[in-house]
Amino acid sequence: MLKAGKTKFQIDLRRYLREDGVDDRLTHLICEVAEASKYIVNSIRTGDLGVAGTSNLYGEEQLALDVLADRILRKRLAKSGVVSNVASEETRDVIAVSPHCAGNFSVAFDPLDGSSLVDVNLAVGTIVSVFPGSDLLQAGQRQVAALYILYGPRTTLVYTTGNGVHEFGMNQLMEYTLLRRNIRLEPKAVIYSPGGLRKRYTSGVREFVDHLEERGAKLRYSGGLVPDVNQVLMKRSGVFFYPHLQGAPQGKLRLLFELNPMALLMEQAGGAASNGRQRILELQPGAIDECQPFFCGCRDDVTRAEELIVNREQPPAPG
Ligand code: F6P
Ligand code: MN
Repeated sequence: MLKAGKTKFQIDLRRYLREDGVDDRLTHLICEVAEASKYIVNSIRTGDLGVAGTSNLYGEEQLALDVLADRILRKRLAKSGVVSNVASEETRDVIAVSPHCAGNFSVAFDPLDGSSLVDVNLAVGTIVSVFPGSDLLQAGQRQVAALYILYGPRTTLVYTTGNGVHEFGMNQLMEYTLLRRNIRLEPKAVIYSPGGLRKRYTSGVREFVDHLEERGAKLRYSGGLVPDVNQVLMKRSGVFFYPHLQGAPQGKLRLLFELNPMALLMEQAGGAASNGRQRILELQPGAIDECQPFFCGCRDDVTRAEELIVNREQPPAPG
């Protein structure tokens, strides 16, 4: 068990995972994702930034980089020997990559989150959610690991395996070494990141924004889920939300690829994650491409958002 605090020596990701008691197969999987990210970061820095001429399952135009990042990650996972099924935000179906290793893990991933920010050279990321066995339609609380990689001015990897949240930075040798361990959130937010069009906000969400602003919380929003969530975690205070909207009761963000992994990270950092009425990690997904409203970050503020939504708004119509 590694103790909290600063270290003079560089601890690499594999060693940290081992010393943290993470099982060998899961350590291998996480390290394979870390390997894949080296190729993805290289493509982001130097590759083709144009469109691919195709669209994903949400009808969004794909970039050449979306397609490439998806392939890089999928191949790596397929060859890992510990993954039975994968599902990607960029493709339609669950893909059985290695049916013979059922009993290991299944992985849902968003290979290049925030790709609309690529042409303006803002930070983007990769998000990964790991379930035991071969079923991907399980409640998020069954995840055995969640992580994201942030391709910013520096590349960082932030993971949890249910034992706190830890941040690693890619060094000059493209190896991940420990930056911060056991990141913990304060109960109240000093910054907020609001997704979606404000004129389409519902009454509870409007009041939530008023509540944050009256308290002096500052708006900090990039439009990329990974950098926005990372900002909340690394500042140790903040809320990110992409709410239900008038005309879009499910919001925009995807439960499997985006919300479950971010919710596990937030909870492991002592924060919370909700769809405004229920804890994200308890939601049983009905479909791979399910979307849900999302409020995450400092506990007191996520609770406040829930109170305002439950007390001021009608529950959404079933179906
Ligand atoms: O993948 C979805 C995403 O790009 C997130 O990274 C981001 O939080 C959100 O969509 C931004 O949505 P919008 O395009 O509505 O601002
Ligand atoms: Mn995304």
